[in-house]
Order: sequence, then C-alpha cells, then structure tokens
Amino acid sequence: MRQGRFDEPANEIAQLYSESVSTDWRLYAHDIKGSLAHAAALVAAGILTKEEREKIEAALTVIEAEIKAGDFRWERKLEDVHMNIEAALTKRIGAAGAKLHTARSRNDQVALDLRLYVKAEAAEVCARLRALQRALLSLAERHQAVILPGYTHLQRAQPIVLGHCFLAQIEALERDHGRLIDCARRADVLPLGAGAIAGSTIVLDRESIARDLGFSKVSQNSLDAVGDRDFVAEFLFGLAVIGMHLSRLSEELILWSTTEFGFITFSDAFSTGSSLMPQKKNPDMAELTRGKTGRLYGNLIALLTTLKGLPSSYQRDLQEDKGPLFDSVTTIRDALQVFAAMLPELTINTGRMESAAADPNLLATDLAEYLVKKGMPFREAHEAVGKLVARSTAAKVGLNNVSLLEMQEISKRFEEDVLKVFDVRGSLAKRTAPGAPSPENVAAQISRWKSLL
Ligand code: ARG
Repeated sequence: MRQGRFDEPANEIAQLYSESVSTDWRLYAHDIKGSLAHAAALVAAGILTKEEREKIEAALTVIEAEIKAGDFRWERKLEDVHMNIEAALTKRIGAAGAKLHTARSRNDQVALDLRLYVKAEAAEVCARLRALQRALLSLAERHQAVILPGYTHLQRAQPIVLGHCFLAQIEALERDHGRLIDCARRADVLPLGAGAIAGSTIVLDRESIARDLGFSKVSQNSLDAVGDRDFVAEFLFGLAVIGMHLSRLSEELILWSTTEFGFITFSDAFSTGSSLMPQKKNPDMAELTRGKTGRLYGNLIALLTTLKGLPSSYQRDLQEDKGPLFDSVTTIRDALQVFAAMLPELTINTGRMESAAADPNLLATDLAEYLVKKGMPFREAHEAVGKLVARSTAAKVGLNNVSLLEMQEISKRFEEDVLKVFDVRGSLAKRTAPGAPSPENVAAQISRWKSLL
C-alpha cells in the first residue's frame, strides 16, 4: 500500500496506533466471502480469467481454514484484516492475488464486511432472544396460576399471577426481536462497487454481486455507501435496549431472591459465594448483567459521538466503530445465553408469593369498584375506601375484617355481599379484558406464544 507514494517507512508508533487487525480480524469470514463474490464479478468484467479466479478461490479457502484453526499469522504492520488477507493471498498465488483489489477500495470493502457481520449477528441474537423467550414461556406455563402481589412504585398494588409476569418479559423481548429484524433490513444493502468514494471506471455487475452475497438491494449513492454507519448505530441501540430489558429483569429477580421477599431461589450452579461470609449465596449473574448495561449504552454513545463531526464519505475515524460493535455483540450473546440457561433452574417459592398475595389491601380497588357497581361515582368510592383503609390500618385489622357496621358508617352502599370482594381468585377471574390477567386470558396468551415460539 505504501510502495510508490512514500519515501520513508511508517513510524512504528504510528503503525501500532493505527492498526485495527487486532480487533477487526473477527471479520475474516465475511471479508473472504466478499472477496469471492468480487472475484466472480471481475471475471464477468474481463479483468480476471476463470483460472485466476479459481486460484483465488482455492487460496482464500485455505487461508480461511488456517484462520479458523488459529494457524494464520496476523501482521499488525499490515494494518487491518483486509490487507492481511490480501497480502497472504498475493504471497501465495502472485499476480492473480494482486488483481483482486481492482475496482474496490477498503472503504467499500469494510462497509461490506460490516453489513454482512451485522446481518449475521442480528440473526444470531434473534435466535438467542427466541431461546430466552422459550425459557420464560415454560416458566409462565408451569407457574401460570401462582398468585402474587403486583407492585407499582415497588409497593403492593393489585394481585396478579406469575404467568402474567413472565409473559410480560416475553412481550418486551419480542419488541427487541422486531427491532433487530428492522435493523437487519437496513443493513441489507450492498455497498461494494462504491469504491473509495466515486465507484470505478471499471464497471462491475453490482446486482449480481448482491445476489451472490444475499443482499436484496444495492446502494444508490457511492458517497453515502462508504460513509454510512447508521446501521451499526441502530444495531447498537437494539442491543442496548435488550441490555436494558435484561437489566430490569435482573433487578426484579435479585429483589425477589432477597430473604425479605423470598419469592425465588437461584440454583447453586448460577450463584456465587462470598470470600468472607460463609452463609452468602449471591445472584452475581443477574448483577453482572445489570452492570453490563453500562457498557452497552457506552458503546452506542461512543459510536454516535464518533459519527457526529464527520464530513460525508469515508474518514478513518470510522475504524473506531468496530470495538463498540464487537463488544456489544459479545456482551449480549453471552447475557442471553446465561439467562436462557439460568431461568429453568429457578426455584419458585409459591408459598411466599401466595401469602404475600393474601394481603387484603391488594383488593382495595376492587372494593371501590364494588361501590361503583352499587351506583357511586368512582372518585367518591375511592375516597370512601381510602378512609376505610386508614381506619383499618390504625386499628391494625385487615381491610376484610372491618365490620359491616363500620363500613356502613362510611357508606350506606356497603351491604352483606361485600365479603365476596375479598376473594383473590374471584377478583382475577373478573379481569377478562384483553391483556388483563384473568386465568383464561393468561392461558390463551400462553398458547398464543407457544404457537409463535
Ligand atoms: N481498517 C479500516 C476501517 O476499519 C478499513 C478502511 C481503511 N480505509 C482507508 N482508506 N484507510 O475503517
């Protein structure tokens, strides 16, 4: 690359500073796939002979196998994955290798590799999201009727069933899945042929390259094609949101596993001990996942910040996209794998949940709705039950143990049938609007997800 234009060799410090192969070697399989498609197009354009292409193909196949086996020597002075593979190729087959870079620049080459990488990794993360959804679904199915308090502001609010909680997580992961599908659709554009910035006087059949590589479109502006990293930012955003969802799930599980809640117990295999306190059993997998959300957000902000000051087309700053991208992909792949393996081993402490759900205050809203059904405006009913809760709390009796006489001091609309309100299962059974947690609804959601997943 430096031969011809430069008199002096590169400064060693500058070389180490600017190399990217220590990071971007991970793109090798995509880089080779792209080179094979490019070579085919060069044959069609009359630049390479069929024999030369066959030589290229055979050598690249060997190089790929060597890389996979860990037998390939990456040279930092060759800068990046592209130059390393091209240099190895030319060293092995000579002239044919030296022709491969015709009508191609590393600017469109790296854009191509990244798009192939994002498409492949989006599909992999989608598959892992599905695996986690299935783990959640099986928990939802096994524990669908276990009643527990639902919390808002982390205060006991209204009764729900555990199946509903796990289904809520599945819904969030489904949106994450959809975001990655959308992102992969925008990554699905072939940039190869854009050259360094302005295409080439040697015109290749880009549609045919796109078909070869599984792209459904070709880019329509060479300047934009080499400068665009929106699809990387979008992917990092999608991964950051998955991290945020896993972090919220982590927080809930950590809270539920405390002695104070006692709703769940993590299996030994997914817990860690303390180096000092012999009794400790810590939920570190969930804590680490909650903690890793920071780097997922950081990676997104790092890329957006790198992009914000750049003029159009390729700038070397764009090389800084890879560290954040690879880091977020690894982080999310690992986290999803840990969660899908950890959740089936959770112990659900049904008794603790149901005794917490026996708190009659969880049915205070039902009591207000009882008055509404007797003809009272909701605001008045809310106030009346509020007074009743205040009295029962002061008297240290359950809301269900206030005498009818006392209730009637607050409203004459309270009658004998009021006791029926304090039946948690009855309350849940009435919550039949779509999305609400009646047993029928939860069962229907479980079978809907079963057929979807
Ligand atoms: N390693 C570079 C990157 O990741 C590849 C493109 C380099 N292009 C260039 N003209 N120096 O962005």
